[in-house]
Amino acid sequence: MPPSPPAPRLLLLLALLIACAASGVGCSAPRFAQLDRLRELHQRERRPAAEQVDAARGLLARLLPSHSASFEFRVVSTEQCGGKACFIINNHPSFDGEATPEILILGASGVEISAGLHWYLKNYCAAHTSWAKTGGSQLSSVPYPGSLPRVPAGGILIQRPVDWSYYQNAVTSSYSFAWWDWERWEKEIDWMALQGINLPLAFTGQETIWQKVFQRYNISKSDLDDFFGGPAFLSWSRMANMHGWGGPLPQTWLDDQLTLQKKILSRMYAFGMSPVLPAFSGNIPAALKLKFPSAKVTHLGNWFTVDSNPRWCCTYLLDASDPLYVEIGKLFIEEQIREYGRTSHVYNCDTFDENTPPLSDPNYISSLGAATFRAMQSGDDDAIWLMQGWLFTYDPFWEPPQMKALLHSVPVGRMIVLDLYAEVKPVWINSDQFYGVPYIWCMLHNFAADFEMYGILDAVASGPIDARLSEKSTMVGVGMSMEGIEQNPIVYDLMSEMGFHHRQVDLQVWVETYPTRRYGKSVVGLQDAWRILHQTLYNCTDGKKGQKPGCDSGVPRC
Ligand SMILES: *[C@@H]1O[C@H](CO)[C@@H](O)[C@H](O)[C@H]1NC(C)=O
Ligand SMILES: *[C@@H]1O[C@H](CO)[C@@H](O)[C@H](O)[C@H]1NC(C)=O
Repeated sequence: MPPSPPAPRLLLLLALLIACAASGVGCSAPRFAQLDRLRELHQRERRPAAEQVDAARGLLARLLPSHSASFEFRVVSTEQCGGKACFIINNHPSFDGEATPEILILGASGVEISAGLHWYLKNYCAAHTSWAKTGGSQLSSVPYPGSLPRVPAGGILIQRPVDWSYYQNAVTSSYSFAWWDWERWEKEIDWMALQGINLPLAFTGQETIWQKVFQRYNISKSDLDDFFGGPAFLSWSRMANMHGWGGPLPQTWLDDQLTLQKKILSRMYAFGMSPVLPAFSGNIPAALKLKFPSAKVTHLGNWFTVDSNPRWCCTYLLDASDPLYVEIGKLFIEEQIREYGRTSHVYNCDTFDENTPPLSDPNYISSLGAATFRAMQSGDDDAIWLMQGWLFTYDPFWEPPQMKALLHSVPVGRMIVLDLYAEVKPVWINSDQFYGVPYIWCMLHNFAADFEMYGILDAVASGPIDARLSEKSTMVGVGMSMEGIEQNPIVYDLMSEMGFHHRQVDLQVWVETYPTRRYGKSVVGLQDAWRILHQTLYNCTDGKKGQKPGCDSGVPRC
């Protein structure tokens, strides 16, 4: 058959590809129809512009109340941004002395406005923000209202190179958030907005949702006491690593967590973030197995549980091929949407986090992935599956055929993978860009909320750029997937910026200005100290799970 002439669409695509190749800077972000659709949905369902401006104004009032009148904020469309989410910092055209706004910040959402405010405070006022436990904010260097530094005429436009800035690890809720109240959460959501985070996990209160779902199967509160862990161990009972440890949870606690989650979600949406909700991974209470004796259930092996005691170890995993699997998964999504009144359509699910599947047959893996997704999709037709790629780094079980089977078990574009430890062991490089599946370049950095001083600034400043500009890149975001927070603020300060940098950061300059921001003034000795830290401790992993060569040679051991 003679070749038919290419369709006009294809020609256009070819023209684009050629243009990209010729420009030498790599193509703009890869396109996935499903993710375009997700962006459209987010645009349509987002909170009104006035509410997003209010969220950013609330943040400013908490961060820098003395300067509430110095800034004006406005939401602009992505068209005004040049097609990508952005912020624009301008001198205010009607500035007229102390009590009038001096700086006008435009942003595609409340998050971009907040990130623009942060950018201005960092780069024009030498300010520094971090968690309260790592020194809090240094804002004494911000000039008084009426004398804020002007930006270059014409303003500054900063576009996001990739759509998403992801935040959290499936275990951060246990290592860092376990005892948080709303007051602490409010601070964290402000911190997220300043860092430009628009894709945070929102895992609080999920046990209370599970309680409602399992109630439909006549599973009682006391049945579940043996299933959920205590507040500080929920991450591992959620991931089927263990059960019951540290529990049981009182009903008042469960109810309070749900109330807290509603506040968290409502604030995240007010900023224009897209919170990621949990989805069903097959993890079930023993009581469900008793109610459905013929259901296909795998009894998992021991994880790192105390003495391999069956009281805590060896949980039950409902097989994806069982009809009950999709049914429960659907109910779980529906119950969340009912409670919260909405969703941002992105769901996290990690079936095999540090649990090896019972069979290595790619067909089995693929059927498992497909069922997991079908469960999400039957609860929300527009569901996108966000999966941690930790299993591909951690467990040698995942050879290319198994990995490919899982990644391709759903239509391409319906799953986003987190390249969870990309600053040390990037998976995208050796997996052909996750076999064409969109992924987020994440810095893991921290294990188990340890707080020694370390980090690899060089890899953070260049890794996401190299990944995005690599041939046939499928990278759609950057992220921070640390197990615990509130340590090494310099590492997080730099990593968050990577959501807005288009080129490698010149760290010599960046590290030189860091102490001025952190301490509020320029001190020569401190600059020398930070230069040395950059070359030594901040050119290292924690030396445990990372195998970065070079840390041991000629520099202090980390
Ligand atoms: C739950 O219990 C009620 C009342 O005993 C019974 O009618 C119903 O069929 C049970 N449902 C399930 C799913 O076991
Ligand atoms: C970090 O270590 C690498 C070798 O592992 C070296 O090439 C690089 O120059 C170091 N960076 C700094 C800032 O010293």
